[in-house]
Amino acid sequence: MGGAVSAGEDNDDLIDNLKEAQYIRSERVEQAFRAIDRGDYYLDGYRDTAYKDLAWKHGNIHLSAPCIYSEVMEALMLQQGLSFLNLGSGTGYLSTMVGLIIGPFGVNHGVELHKDVVEYARERLDDFVKTSDSFDRFELCEPQFVVGNCLDISSDSHQYDRIYCGAGVQKAHENYMKIMLKVGGILVMPVEDQLTQITRTGQSSWESKNILPVSFTPLVQQSRPDAIKRDTVDLPPVSVRSLQDLSRIYVRRTLRFLTNEESRCRGLPAHKPPQKRKRRRCRQRCINTYVFVGNQLIPQPVESEEDECIEEELKDKEEEKEKEEEDATETLKAEEPQVNLLRDRILSLPLPESLKTYLLYYREK
Ligand SMILES: C[S@@+](CC[C@H](N)C(=O)[O-])C[C@H]1O[C@@H](n2cnc3c(N)ncnc32)[C@H](O)[C@@H]1O
Repeated sequence: MGGAVSAGEDNDDLIDNLKEAQYIRSERVEQAFRAIDRGDYYLDGYRDTAYKDLAWKHGNIHLSAPCIYSEVMEALMLQQGLSFLNLGSGTGYLSTMVGLIIGPFGVNHGVELHKDVVEYARERLDDFVKTSDSFDRFELCEPQFVVGNCLDISSDSHQYDRIYCGAGVQKAHENYMKIMLKVGGILVMPVEDQLTQITRTGQSSWESKNILPVSFTPLVQQSRPDAIKRDTVDLPPVSVRSLQDLSRIYVRRTLRFLTNEESRCRGLPAHKPPQKRKRRRCRQRCINTYVFVGNQLIPQPVESEEDECIEEELKDKEEEKEKEEEDATETLKAEEPQVNLLRDRILSLPLPESLKTYLLYYREK
């Protein structure tokens, strides 16, 4: 069973496909998707399927299909400094992408039912912070995850600018989700097999828009719905950053700006853009059927015969070009090793080693 877009060979290839099929439409969403390798959220031995447009489930670990995440990220209309709540935060893949857009002055909370999944999400986040060059290219609002049933969040919890629910919501729980939203905020969730975007337009008014037909596994209901007193889930507090933490953010921001400027003056890109591969087939987004992928209903593009003929004619030429480009890419890769300009800059500062290590977030690489 195929997904909504062609399988990719790696993360950049998958993002190229999502972009071409117009699931990814804005630059900031594209950058966040490129910065975080979906394969890093897979268990060893399963990574080869990570770049297909398919949902993945293994034990309690469950990732939705990339085309769904693309629509979700676009529909959330994220901006710097916003507060975000992820209900059913799973592996933390989506929360981390959101964190790259909302930046260090945002709020990034997730609630996940399974303790082992929260532990897995924390490990994945730690790996990202410790080893990914993307961490140095962006400013991250690190997600904070709590274990619990998101239907048991205490009623006096704070409200959020953006909320996503990653599991199917019953109509009866729609209001529960809606009141956690600030006025002007946006909630994206699957309700009755429709991925829905809800905007809170006033204290007691909301506007709702269907984005995509989907089929999500429903949210696990509370264990004792009839009990008068249930254990409530406390969301993490919204804390003010320490002066030391703020200084690190601003020092890194200034150095990143300077290195980017220097690169620009020398006519170099601030960081090497991903090498776009020419793909064999160019699919149009022409959705007129849906297929089940895992337990999600995915729009399936259907190509017309006319499309097929034109593609056949173009295929030979494309393959020739593709070969040339791949050769050129390989040469380029061999000649230009990836450099982390911010890291190099910090390491060259006339500062005590301990301070440089702090500025580097104790990163291993
Ligand atoms: C499709 S996965 C979401 C994955 C997530 N978006 C990510 O980036 O990895 C849905 C998640 O919702 C969780 N879940 C289901 N019912 C829940 C509930 N009542 N409260 C909290 N989490 C729940 C599941 O355990 C699962 O991890």
